[in-house]
This record gives sequence, C-alpha cells and structure tokens, in this order.
Amino acid sequence: MKIPEGDPNERSVGYGGRPDRDGRVTLDSCIMDEFSNIGSVACLEHIKHPISVARAVMEKTPHVMLVGDGALQFALSQGFKKENLLVEASEKEWKEWLKTSEYLPKANIENHDTIGMIALDSHGNLSGACTTSGMAFKMHGRVGDSPIIGAGLYVDNEIGAATATGHGEEVIRITGCHLVVELMRQGKSPQKACEEAVARIVKLTKNRGKELKDIQVGFIALNKKGQYGSYCIQSGFNYAVNDNSGNKLIDAAYYLK
Ligand code: GLY
Repeated sequence: MKIPEGDPNERSVGYGGRPDRDGRVTLDSCIMDEFSNIGSVACLEHIKHPISVARAVMEKTPHVMLVGDGALQFALSQGFKKENLLVEASEKEWKEWLKTSEYLPKANIENHDTIGMIALDSHGNLSGACTTSGMAFKMHGRVGDSPIIGAGLYVDNEIGAATATGHGEEVIRITGCHLVVELMRQGKSPQKACEEAVARIVKLTKNRGKELKDIQVGFIALNKKGQYGSYCIQSGFNYAVNDNSGNKLIDAAYYLK
C-alpha cells in the first residue's frame, strides 16, 4: 500500500493524488487488525503515507479517527515529514478543470479510485487497510468511505473482511463493508455477500431516482477459510489476489451489462 501511496504516477492515492476543487490534496485512510484495533485519518494534507498515520492513530492514541489539521499536527508530532503532494500533472489537470469547474463524478472515468487490501495471514488472522485521495475536485472537506470503518473497510476476525472502491457516498449510505461481513456471518459466500451489497445500492439508487450508469462501487471480500469474491455495479474494476498459487489479476463480475 505504501508503494502506490509514494508513487507520483499513481494519481488516486498519496503523493500524486488528484486535488480537491481548491487545489489541495486531501487524503483518507484507515486500518483494522484481527483484534478490532482501528485507526483512521480523514482530510489529511501534506503527508505522503496516510496509511502509516492511520496506523499510528491506532497504535499510539486513545482515539480511532483524526481529521484535517488535527491529523496533520499528530502526524508531525510522530515525525512524519510535511511535503507538497500536488505533482505537476495533477496541478495541470486541476487548472484545466477550473476552466469549467464542473463537478460531475462519473463511473470509471479516472477521476478517483481507492486502494483497499484485505489479508488472511499464516496464523489464520484477518486484517485490512484502505487509502485514497478521494474524488478528484471534490469540495474541500469532503470525506468518502475509505477512512470510515464499516463503510470502506471492515474486519471481523471470526468471519471475514471486506473493502470497497468507487463512489464513497454510495458505500457510506449502506455501511457497505460492515454489511458484506454481516452477510458472510449469515452464511453467504464472499461472492454472494458482495453481490447482495451491490444489489442494495442498486435498489436505493433506483428508489432515489438517480442514474445507476453514473455510479461505480466495487467490493472485495475474504472469509476465514480464505475464500474470496468481488462484485461491482459496472465493468472496469479488477483486483489482485496473492495466495499460495501465486499472483493473479481478476476482472470483477458486475451488475450493469
Ligand atoms: N471510495 C473513495 C472515495 O469515494 O473517496
């Protein structure tokens, strides 16, 4: 996770992440371990590795979430370096965007993404982490699902783990990853649990009179037995699996054909 966060060419997380509409790169991240220890930062500026700050919140504070300047001050107190995260390519795109200042998040247009990881270790313990720069050109202060435990990430070491990508507002609306884990608790496979969570978003979107074609949400899930699954609203989402058989990149199944 720290590799893409530190890569200026990876434009959806960390250093190089796309800015908000004021040209500020604000980062969201969270982490959860097998003991249900949690840590999170939201709207954090100037720190290349928000996931490491989230981990420090988990390990070194009595709290679970720090936001904005409080998160930055905490990071600096822990020795993190203050840096400019707005790379030239992102600044150029933002200046281009300013010409219209039209904020219309569209599914799969590369204006946002998230990196989520869920893991089952050799002791059979589950954990996870999630990081993003959020929607490009969002309102300053906007927070998506990725730093919200239960929305962008959830781990229950007895059951399974899930993480999400896509439009955070839709994931928050159904407390997505907590829902996926609870569905696995009821006996659903990781695949079926992801499908049911997506079905709930589909239903709510239609009920609210919104266009499904403009929305993308994807979930990945992993259970205690090491079974995994994924589902999203529309095509364009893939995920990487690393297990005893090696590495593979899988195109996720999707709802909108
Ligand atoms: N899923 C990332 C975000 O909406 O910010």
